[in-house]
Amino acid sequence: MEPGKLESTAHSGAPSRVAFLEGQGELPILEVVTPWSAAEIFLHGAHVTRFKKHNEPPLLFMSQCSRFEQGSPIRGGIPVILPWFGFREGLGQHGFARKRAWELKEVAFGPGGSVSARFSFPETPEAAAFPPFKAEYTVTVSESLGLRLAVTNLSQDQALPFENCLHTYFEVGDVTAIGVVGLKGCEYLDQVEKFARKTEGQDAIRINSEVDRIYLNTSAPVEILDPRLGRKIRVETEGSRSTVVWNPWIAKAQQMADFGNDDYETMVCVESGNVADNALTIAPRQTAVLQVKLSSACLQG
Ligand code: BG6
Repeated sequence: MEPGKLESTAHSGAPSRVAFLEGQGELPILEVVTPWSAAEIFLHGAHVTRFKKHNEPPLLFMSQCSRFEQGSPIRGGIPVILPWFGFREGLGQHGFARKRAWELKEVAFGPGGSVSARFSFPETPEAAAFPPFKAEYTVTVSESLGLRLAVTNLSQDQALPFENCLHTYFEVGDVTAIGVVGLKGCEYLDQVEKFARKTEGQDAIRINSEVDRIYLNTSAPVEILDPRLGRKIRVETEGSRSTVVWNPWIAKAQQMADFGNDDYETMVCVESGNVADNALTIAPRQTAVLQVKLSSACLQG
């Protein structure tokens, strides 16, 4: 599909609209409006930069200092991390999928007004270091946001080792007031302390300093309780064994050129995927599917 095309449809008085436009940095974007919500997805990185329910503040944090250019990741929203997570000597950080334009393959309108957009990762020179694989990413916008990343090993005879992660930046009212619930009892790697192995003892994780943790062997839903915005965000997953919780805090925020000095106050990353001990290896012709559903509701009480 080429930018400029406009697709629209109507479902029993509940119209949904999709526009294929030019976004920041002259990069193509898909703008989606449904009866419940609005979303914006860059082809660059197949990156969701906005999801907002009509009666709520934005669900996703976006840095006002983000770059929007070929070869650089976007800061905020939902970076797609593939085929590796973290730093790899000579290769850089968090894979190449977030730095390349994906191809938009299809836009589909579901019953009731949901909209799904399917993206496919193109051939790139960096991928030559891996057995051949196909990556498809489907974003479904409705009352919630659905994300589905499917990676297929196209090799006839080689296993495909990789990591995947949907690195979601959530917008919160005040990061020091939130609780991140659902990880009690999980083993984690504390990246702030040289990957020390620890066990989470808190019902609700509080953030008062740099937090950078890879929780392992967990598929449990995670909730972000946000009293300032009066909102509860829920992250539900399938095909995910790791949850990463990250807030850079003050010093790291100052070091990142594409992140505002105060941005750490209003964001938290709760990332879903398969990283570190949970890295995946799939046999020839096998597909691994990672699915994440993001929803929100009023925080009661
Ligand atoms: C998190 C990592 O997932 O991503 C952190 O756990 C890292 O260690 C953060 O700092 C941001 O990474 P990047 O490459 O987008 O600056």
